[in-house]
Amino acid sequence: MTPHLAVSSHPAHHPLDAPPHRRRRRRRLCPPRAARPSPSPTLRCRAAAASATAAVPQPPRAPDAAARTRVFVVSDLHTDYQENMDWVRRLAVGVGPPGAGGVNALVVAGDVAETTDNFARTMGALRDQFDAVFYVPGNHDLWLRREEDGRYMDSLEKLNALLDACSELGVDTGPKTIGDLGIIPLFSWYHKSFDKEKDLTSVRVPSLEMACKDFHACKWPSELGSDDEALALYFDQLNDKYNDAIEEVKKNSKQILTFSHFVPRQELCPEKRMLYYPNLPKVIGSDYLERRLRAIHNNAEGGAACHVFGHTHFCWDSMIDGIRYVQAPLAYPRERKRRMNGGEGWLPFCVYRDGFNPEIYPAIWSDYYNKNKREPENTQLAPWVAKYFRKYY
Ligand SMILES: [Fe+2]
Repeated sequence: MTPHLAVSSHPAHHPLDAPPHRRRRRRRLCPPRAARPSPSPTLRCRAAAASATAAVPQPPRAPDAAARTRVFVVSDLHTDYQENMDWVRRLAVGVGPPGAGGVNALVVAGDVAETTDNFARTMGALRDQFDAVFYVPGNHDLWLRREEDGRYMDSLEKLNALLDACSELGVDTGPKTIGDLGIIPLFSWYHKSFDKEKDLTSVRVPSLEMACKDFHACKWPSELGSDDEALALYFDQLNDKYNDAIEEVKKNSKQILTFSHFVPRQELCPEKRMLYYPNLPKVIGSDYLERRLRAIHNNAEGGAACHVFGHTHFCWDSMIDGIRYVQAPLAYPRERKRRMNGGEGWLPFCVYRDGFNPEIYPAIWSDYYNKNKREPENTQLAPWVAKYFRKYY
């Protein structure tokens, strides 16, 4: 076993790096990187590969304060890190109040905390600061390794406990209309067959079990194995109980925001040749999820459909087939320190102010794919990835 892989706990610990040849002046959804990475000897350090010298533009802290309904989005809070918990506790100061009689809502797209206690503390703090808070579970939320022995039989039991905690705190885990906006949480889990692109064969890629801690930190009933689509299907079917509520919300809303923790389309992740961990697409997304959100957004008028996701820690804002896809992760402190994938000063991201913000925000990778065609058949490693594999494998 490669020692530095042993400390890997999240696909996002295998960070991507900025595409080369990028120089931007516009404000970014994600802090810009000044230089290509220089991979470091440990996985932790790999996340630290970006330059820390780039200036980080700050967005306005109180966007359109006159708006009656403002919806902010964020994912991957990871408040087991004290810095992240501190950040959560002072969120309302930056966000400011809504317009007179208005509402500030917050959408949290999973990976709040690894322990139930931190989860409850975090969601309680958010609920104190926002008029409405919405949540879907992420993989880290269902880890059991730091829970006291016997607290949960398996990750499904923990899932139910977290949903109960949300209910007690007044956090929404089902569909609801806020102003003119319908907000619909979607349960999901990843499956390997989500990855439809050609594998890289020129390098030895560590196994998913070595690279992704979910395989050890989650525990599932025996019929829900990680090797097939059973888990993804199970989580997708959890949404069925909200079918009537979803229809009701659609009837009463002018715009719809769906959100999940996992990734609905492979195009929302860079190609394998760009990735330090090229098999990342096998542990990030669900085809069931994309099918379900498409069904919800069908017949949406232009600019009225948005899906927010998380998990990979890569900021994203792009429009695909009429639906806007946004990722706005807080991510790990070390990622923020290196101006990497996460945000701090610009989060939570205000995606809605009495209507979706029409501006597509600049984010490194979504900008890249807005201008460059995806080439999944191209298996030539990006230079920084080639250098990394030469050095460590
Ligand atoms: Fe995650």
